[in-house]
Amino acid sequence: MIEVLLLVVLIASVLQYVKIRRKISFAQDLPTVEPCYPIIGNGLLYLGQSSEKRFLKISKALSHPAKFFKMWLGFVPIICTNDPSMAQQILTHPDCLEKPYLYDFFKLDYGLFSARHDIWKGQRKTLNSTFNQKIINGFIPIFDTCAQDLIKRLMNHKTVQMTPFMLQCALEMVCATTIGGDLSRQKGAVILTELIDKVIHLVAKRVLSVSVHLECVYRLTQDYRAEQRAREEAYYYGNEILRDARARKATETIDSNDRDEFRKPQIFIDQLLDPQNGKKFEEIEIIHNLYTMITGGSDTTGNEMGYISLMLAMHPDLQEKVYGEIMTVFPGSGDPIFSHEALKQLQYTEMVIKETLRLFPIAPNIMRTPIKDVNLYGVLVPKGTILLISIFNAHRRKDVWGPNADKFDPENFSPERVEGRHPFAFLAFSGGTRNCIGIRYAMCNLKIILVHLLKNFKLRTNAHIEDLQFKYDAMLRLSTEPEISLERRATCTKNAEGCD
Ligand code: HEM
Repeated sequence: MIEVLLLVVLIASVLQYVKIRRKISFAQDLPTVEPCYPIIGNGLLYLGQSSEKRFLKISKALSHPAKFFKMWLGFVPIICTNDPSMAQQILTHPDCLEKPYLYDFFKLDYGLFSARHDIWKGQRKTLNSTFNQKIINGFIPIFDTCAQDLIKRLMNHKTVQMTPFMLQCALEMVCATTIGGDLSRQKGAVILTELIDKVIHLVAKRVLSVSVHLECVYRLTQDYRAEQRAREEAYYYGNEILRDARARKATETIDSNDRDEFRKPQIFIDQLLDPQNGKKFEEIEIIHNLYTMITGGSDTTGNEMGYISLMLAMHPDLQEKVYGEIMTVFPGSGDPIFSHEALKQLQYTEMVIKETLRLFPIAPNIMRTPIKDVNLYGVLVPKGTILLISIFNAHRRKDVWGPNADKFDPENFSPERVEGRHPFAFLAFSGGTRNCIGIRYAMCNLKIILVHLLKNFKLRTNAHIEDLQFKYDAMLRLSTEPEISLERRATCTKNAEGCD
């Protein structure tokens, strides 16, 4: 058995190597990340390393000063950049909207995030309208309730690692706006995200192991079996959620007074089951998009709120400035009355959010592949080449962000500084037409959580930004999260339990 497996791997590898060598000849003049050896490529950067070292070495390699350079995942070449103008060329090129085969490992081929270009195009056109500002405004009361629940949970603690609390809050928000219904009945959704996280971790591991890129080889591994178990369980919960949503929709009596489309929140699953305009979705598209939104909407904002809390705790003077702005827009100790207009006034708060997203972009690297041969900055890149944009490194370039690029400075997002900068220097939400569909959603819920958090607590920590270590994963995650101490503020909102 093992001999057959080795033979299959060997033959597949040689065929792949010959094919790729022929295709990569266009890139022979591009600089290569070192050390690089035949067969293992840049494997020494990550093989046998701890997750933390892996992250450090890969991100150092991706900080290469050339506009375009190449890395080898074994014998798979990846053309990389951290340059804003190169990123713009790739992300805005109409023939570079495809994701490479590595995204197939997510096995969500019919969800917006990893769907092939031809499927993605129709879906994105229809779903863009489900993320418009009016629909997001309809979610404000839901975000408010979930943030109030978060504060109640935090009231029981003096020191916390913030991210797990934020992940729960973000998950409740995304469940309520995606699936709808009573939050307490969505236990299946919590299990679902844990299962999806497990799958994402195994996918990130598989990306670095070229020997298991071929599905027939991967199927022979333990990781495949673990992934399958997680997927099967996830599908079970996914189907339950979908059945519930369908049953609820079938029993809904449409009161003619409720026809004002923006009075009731337009939850995502209803739009998938019954799109107001654009394409009708197949069953598999509905399921894959449901998983995509639950993960895309909770892991991202949850982790990012963890980073924002840490940055504020590490910079008490900046925290007071944000608090001051919040108290000007939402004065007093009563519950804040949120509206889109009021949230728009939180401009310094927005600068703090963006600066955190700059230093801690939840998607540290993104990839694209051309659907035909394309010319990018004078380099003729053949169809099917894997192109990688290192957002993490683009956000820390000293020639773009100045000599203190590694420091936390919200002034980086003052209107004057933004005006003088390349439009693709900040890529936390990616760029071009295949950017993040949830930008408005995220900015709205992040601000609402922050208002509640800072009205109720002063955040403090002894940790410093230089102490933070990341681990290798598909998302930017801390190796160990420092604790934050919570000190009650005098403006503690009246309905929060434990508030004096
Ligand atoms: C701080 C919060 C967020 C950040 C930093 C973020 C970042 C990103 C990035 C960088 C991408 C591009 C990924 C790639 O090209 O490989 C992306 C795509 C996507 N995001 Fe977000 N995201 C956030 C919040 C959200 C939310 C709240 C939702 C939904 C409720 C969402 C849904 C999606 C979807 C569906 C895609 C795929 C879009 C497409 O391919 O057309 N994201 N996001």
